[in-house]
Amino acid sequence: MANPPKRDLLSIADIASDLPEIVERAHQWKQWRRRGTLRQPLRGKNLAMIFEKPSTRTRSSFEIAMTDLGGHAVYLSPRDMQLGRGETIPDTARVLSRYYDGIVYRAFRWQDEATLAQWATVPVVNALDDREHPCQIVADLLTLYEAWGGKFAGRRLAYIGDGNNVLNSLLQGAAIMGISFVAAIPEKYRPAADLVARAEGWAKASGATVRLVTAPAEAARDADAIYTDVWVSMGDESEEARRTQDFQGYQINDALLDLGRPGCFALHDLPAHRGLEITDAVMDGERQRIWDQAENRLHAQKAILERLLSPGSGNRPRGSRPLTRRVRSRGSGS
Ligand code: CP
Ligand code: NVA
Repeated sequence: MANPPKRDLLSIADIASDLPEIVERAHQWKQWRRRGTLRQPLRGKNLAMIFEKPSTRTRSSFEIAMTDLGGHAVYLSPRDMQLGRGETIPDTARVLSRYYDGIVYRAFRWQDEATLAQWATVPVVNALDDREHPCQIVADLLTLYEAWGGKFAGRRLAYIGDGNNVLNSLLQGAAIMGISFVAAIPEKYRPAADLVARAEGWAKASGATVRLVTAPAEAARDADAIYTDVWVSMGDESEEARRTQDFQGYQINDALLDLGRPGCFALHDLPAHRGLEITDAVMDGERQRIWDQAENRLHAQKAILERLLSPGSGNRPRGSRPLTRRVRSRGSGS
């Protein structure tokens, strides 16, 4: 039987059909780690990790996840690769596909992510680009799953700030899971219309709602959780002064959390700019799940890697044969 086609994770939409299962599996991976249970479904697998931008959480969590799952991860910086000297993305993709079972890619441009996925014959996982940050959102959903006892229906998630990569993936992820979502974003920083329309479609199917407003207080009112991200993303540094001005008032602080439902807590994907999009008091206080959220990156990466790279997932490089068959046929002189 032919292998099913390889599966990439460029957008959270690519795992829409099994997102609830992936979140539950991430929860299971967390339990197993706590109990010290060893499970290594990715023994013998190798993962390339290309990072064009800095990373603390994504890099560490993918690398540790791969080791825990029995595999091996290699960090590649374009500064040290021929990619940085002009080797093309398609050529890089074709070569890496001969060594590795999957490629994690943090890119400046969504288009480069898509090109790598087009030419790689192994799964490509988006570790953040200018459009989406899907792996972050799997960890965020795990955090909400834990906070809300595994039930999303009737819950309200607010987002305050920039209509950026994190917001784009979060908007879709919430709609898929049936979480009602409201984002307060200044008019000129709103997300792309196609992503909003896609999220609205899922929300309709899951019984949730998607709303975009401009006033932070309107979004925060009756929220169960309030999420924010930086105002100046990696790659937007030249706009720092203007953005810092435009986002004044879009801050998670205790007064904003007071507008939410009882037990309302803050989320942030990190790194945070304390004193800008979120206060020290919230970051260091009890009304947040930010540190759980950061830990959950590790458990989420395991569920993602297992799903895309496991034996039987059909992701063996095209044209390759299992090693045992190759060795046997060489031994028999054929
Ligand atoms: N949240 C997140 O992706 O963090 P890093 O940039 O440190 O990977
Ligand atoms: N929106 C931020 C997320 C960092 C994890 C950025 O792209 O820099």
